[in-house]
Amino acid sequence: MAQSIKPGSTWNDTGGSAINAHGGCVVYHDGYYYWFGEQRNSNKSDGISCYRSKDFYSWSKMSRAVTPAGTKTDENRDIASGRTLERPKVIYNEQTNKWVMWIHWENGDDYGQAKVAVCTADKVEGPYKMKDVFRPNGCDSRDQTLFLDTDGKAYHIYSTNMNSNTNCERLSEDFLAPLPDYAVQLKGRRYEAAAIFKAGDIYYGLFSGCTGWNTNPGRYMWTYDLMDETWQAPADFKASDGSTGINFCVDNNKGTTYQSQSNYVFPVPGKDKCFVYMGDRWNPSNIQSSKHVWLPLSVRSGYPTVRWYDEWDLSVFDEMYRMKRLKEPEEGAEVYLLEKYSNRIVSRPNASLTIENDGKSNLCFILHKTETPYVYKIEEKATGKYMESVFGTTRWQEKSESKAQEWMLWLQEDGYYRIENLNDGVCLSVSGNTTEAGTTLYLSDANSNVHQSFGLYFDSKEHADYPEADMFSKTYRESNREAMKEQSAAVGITSIREKSGHRRIYELGSGRLVQGPMSRGTYVEVNEGKTRKFVIKRK
Ligand code: GAL
Repeated sequence: MAQSIKPGSTWNDTGGSAINAHGGCVVYHDGYYYWFGEQRNSNKSDGISCYRSKDFYSWSKMSRAVTPAGTKTDENRDIASGRTLERPKVIYNEQTNKWVMWIHWENGDDYGQAKVAVCTADKVEGPYKMKDVFRPNGCDSRDQTLFLDTDGKAYHIYSTNMNSNTNCERLSEDFLAPLPDYAVQLKGRRYEAAAIFKAGDIYYGLFSGCTGWNTNPGRYMWTYDLMDETWQAPADFKASDGSTGINFCVDNNKGTTYQSQSNYVFPVPGKDKCFVYMGDRWNPSNIQSSKHVWLPLSVRSGYPTVRWYDEWDLSVFDEMYRMKRLKEPEEGAEVYLLEKYSNRIVSRPNASLTIENDGKSNLCFILHKTETPYVYKIEEKATGKYMESVFGTTRWQEKSESKAQEWMLWLQEDGYYRIENLNDGVCLSVSGNTTEAGTTLYLSDANSNVHQSFGLYFDSKEHADYPEADMFSKTYRESNREAMKEQSAAVGITSIREKSGHRRIYELGSGRLVQGPMSRGTYVEVNEGKTRKFVIKRK
């Protein structure tokens, strides 16, 4: 009996047959997990299967949840044998006490119908009876999913307009039909395979690109409002696939989503912000034998990340949120630096700084305020030495008065910091913008071509009393934007981008260096009636 999950390997049910449930979803009900998916007979669609498990690892096959029935109708409004049923999603309606399943429906010959089949059942495992087959709001609907919100409202999200846009519509009270208002979103992005989930005030969407059964890089977006057209990705992402969205995979083979395509994100019951990424490793020549890629998904960084595991079990969630975002930098705070896009912690397994998985090599730092607002000294807890920029490399030295030991924490979006040296203006940066464990960090000019965002995290086992940032609230994200403006007003400059390292900018009067190397010109800032002047000197 399976006691763990081995993503991508053959996964047998308790009867010894490979689990035949593709493009599916999992729901948790009365102490059992139920896994629904496309049942395939080789490549042919053969209804919707249902499996049940007590422990999430070993699954027994139940009766078919949806069995093809009736005969083919001319108006394409049936679930007769031979029709194609894909990507089934199941939610429970508390008002009608019915289980409701929405399925992508095609005629069995091609993908031209682009409809949904809506079915209901009295029991979670079925049997589900077809209520109707239609195009939601008259729109073509191919890859599709449902999302049941915490307030009981349900949504249907689907690729439309020949897969170029994604539509979102709220469902009627009984969840059997869409309400007439629908939002056209993610226009022209050609997203497929949507999986929607929520943490705090934030809705996240995982998607794939549009390459049929072939793999492509996964991607994510987030929004405060599913019906709004405001899906967004972090603004400062730099990797080459940034234009299509940001990959939620952070390990080797992320370019193929670990050879899978998303089908669902399952919120682990009773474990706050713990999710399972569910994907299909399609085998186009025999869809029935396609494998399942299930992996833990974390939003610790504020964004979804999925690491690769050869094998894992639910205990990976026990420590997933042990490191928590510190509300604000404070004198004496013991912190870890979390890199934004990899969700990995600044470490020193060898000589140089790298980003690593949680573990022994993670570096604990103590923050020390200086006389200058927003400027800190960074002491390594284990050695008592201070981080210093020496000719653009990080060195660890005895405490001194040198500006090379002073670091400006420039607030970035969603509570991250660019950590910039006060002496030479170089910032902690991720080499090659990569996300893999072991990627080295180096110091480079503040610029828009490198990832330079680090969050301050604390070990909640050691510092249960530290105040935690409410990072999944809209208030936090919005007040952070205000705080960014305040800092640039107080410090002077964030908007000038430097080029070569020839000049630096000093505050007139105090002579204080306020920003790293600048390209050219002088700079005067007038902010709320206050005029601050700066002068640019040669290096
Ligand atoms: C994929 C889609 C699958 C299936 C396939 C058919 O893009 O995600 O669910 O429809 O196309 O080619």
